[in-house]
Amino acid sequence: MRTVLANLTSECGGKADTGLMRYLSIDTVTRISRIGLGTWQFGSREWGYGESYAGQEARAIVRRALELGVTLFDTAEIYGFGRSERILGEAIGGSRESAFLATKIFPLLPVAPVVEQRAVASANRLGTHRLDLYQVHQPNPLVRDGTIMRGMRALQRVGLVAEVGVSNYSLERWRAAEAALGSRVLSNQVRYSLAARSPERDLLPFAESSGRVVIAYSPLAQGLLSGKYHGASRPVNRVRTGNPLFLPENLERAGDLIATLREVADAHSATPAQIALAWVIHSPAVVAIPGASSVEQLESNVAAADIELTDGQDQALRAASDRFQPITGPPVLPRLLRARFS
Ligand SMILES: NC(=O)c1ccc[n+]([C@@H]2O[C@H](COP(=O)([O-])OP(=O)(O)OC[C@H]3O[C@@H](n4cnc5c(N)ncnc54)[C@H](OP(=O)(O)O)[C@@H]3O)[C@@H](O)[C@H]2O)c1
Repeated sequence: MRTVLANLTSECGGKADTGLMRYLSIDTVTRISRIGLGTWQFGSREWGYGESYAGQEARAIVRRALELGVTLFDTAEIYGFGRSERILGEAIGGSRESAFLATKIFPLLPVAPVVEQRAVASANRLGTHRLDLYQVHQPNPLVRDGTIMRGMRALQRVGLVAEVGVSNYSLERWRAAEAALGSRVLSNQVRYSLAARSPERDLLPFAESSGRVVIAYSPLAQGLLSGKYHGASRPVNRVRTGNPLFLPENLERAGDLIATLREVADAHSATPAQIALAWVIHSPAVVAIPGASSVEQLESNVAAADIELTDGQDQALRAASDRFQPITGPPVLPRLLRARFS
């Protein structure tokens, strides 16, 4: 079923009239939409969206996403300490079979019995008998993946987990995880956007050549690439006051990239955020999971699936991204502290 996005009117503006969701052609229990929905925001204090968001807007976002053909929903046991999984599961309700549910285990004590027990707890919170994708949230620096993959194998054997994924893994460790599991580790969820392009070095070529998937998190650089934040308008929540990209100096340095996004956006009657997303999924092995603070943002993000960038536009965006050199490393800390307490 290809879903028509009919007559979207969006206060985010941009391309929102009609369009088609696109899907990966990889064989999975439910096909995976190129634009998914990230749900860290659901019930997580650090985003500061409040109780009416957690209680109402989040559910409305999920329901609208399903209507628009989104299948990929990403959560984690750690988001809101289980609250995100609960909100997502309740919102999906009877539409379970239209969704590709992805959650994550935080690998604190990744021995098989603990992995199995934590998967059951996540499935219960999500109200499902099957996790379509069970991801290791971070590589454990002390414990090799053989340990956690023993638990994953057992979960696959009993059908509680359909696909295994990893997150924030290097290519070397992704391959080692596959060797330890003894079958495909479908995806690696990593930060990828016009402001963070390191996955292009090796993860994207590997995914493209081997039928694997890169799930791009923070594809809008947490809202930076929407162009709405600048020196006089900085986000206030804890997630972004702790993100060096939102330092006043870095917002200023991002000006050229935002201007290029606006130029390309104008050519498509779209918004900078939509172009940022269209650029991320331009690569065939990538799907994006933007978070959304409103139904309007979700609608706008979904409509980005239908934008085809020209080669010239792709190159212009890459060049602007190359020119964007944010302040990073040790000089960031005193600036973050100053920005936070000023
Ligand atoms: N595996 C990991 O380690 C990891 C790490 C981070 C995130 N993730 C996952 O990836 C998902 C997305 O990443 P993220 O939330 O960090 O960053 P993101 O998707 O780049 O940014 C989301 C934020 O951007 C703003 N936004 C969204 N759509 C917009 C639009 N159309 N126009 C203007 N602004 C828009 C909203 O914030 P405002 O409206 O408040 O500006 C929203 O909360 C998360 O929900 C989570 O599921 C995974």
